[in-house]
Amino acid sequence: MLEIQNVCSAYGEARVLDHVSMQVREGEIVALLGRNGMGKTSLVRTVMGLGSPRLTEGRILLDGQDLAGLRSNQIAARRIGYVPQGRRLFASLTVLEHLEMLDRGSTGAWTVKRVFEAFPRLGERKQHRGSQLSGGERQMLAIGRALMTGPRFILMDEPTEGLAPVMVEIVEKILEALRKEGLGVLLVEQNLYSALAVADRVCIFETGRVVWEGTPAQLQAQQDLLERYLGIH
Ligand SMILES: Nc1ncnc2c1ncn2[C@@H]1O[C@H](COP(=O)(O)OP(=O)(O)OP(=O)(O)O)[C@@H](O)[C@H]1O
Ligand SMILES: [Mg+2]
Repeated sequence: MLEIQNVCSAYGEARVLDHVSMQVREGEIVALLGRNGMGKTSLVRTVMGLGSPRLTEGRILLDGQDLAGLRSNQIAARRIGYVPQGRRLFASLTVLEHLEMLDRGSTGAWTVKRVFEAFPRLGERKQHRGSQLSGGERQMLAIGRALMTGPRFILMDEPTEGLAPVMVEIVEKILEALRKEGLGVLLVEQNLYSALAVADRVCIFETGRVVWEGTPAQLQAQQDLLERYLGIH
């Protein structure tokens, strides 16, 4: 289990996370919702040990072991995968090169072949460079790259952002397949309907705090919450 316990973090002196507690179990998809600027990316970055924002209080436990103080590459080596928001890729490397550089044959890791099976479009574009890919293709590649590290838990920061509906469906199918395989997923989503469709549990963030937690069904039954915290009418 991945446990976030009472976590505070800050950019310099400015606190961004305020005593956040959340858990993600194996085989579970937890969606993290909240309007722009509420701290969703900051939470994911804190868990990944990226240094900015900096963890100032609380603990992040993987199977009871504290990850605090580990560098991001050490956290990744504990099999926590990360799909960053905004699909950072290397402009001059091809799709195939992006994937092959991660192909270490580690246990549970996806192979290049499996990534191309899941995302046939990437297979068709394997000789294209990062700079030549569409937004959707870049997102598929970012997800494929994270899976090639063989994660047990994966943190995805808005994987469907800017994707056409057909692409959103592909991502949803992948998430469901990952859950079946026992991965735990922390899914940051702006797309409420996509989150409701795949998540087992939902947490809502407001200015760096968890203000609501429950199931998708409970959330859908409370229109006032959608309005208050997500600005959805
Ligand atoms: N590098 C930074 N330095 C200082 N403040 C930052 C930095 N990055 C983000 N912030 C601030 O921290 C707060 C939370 O930002 P964050 O990016 O975590 O929100 P978010 O919920 O992911 O938003 P979005 O939905 O737009 O991705 C915002 O007020 C933002 O302005
Ligand atoms: Mg964000």
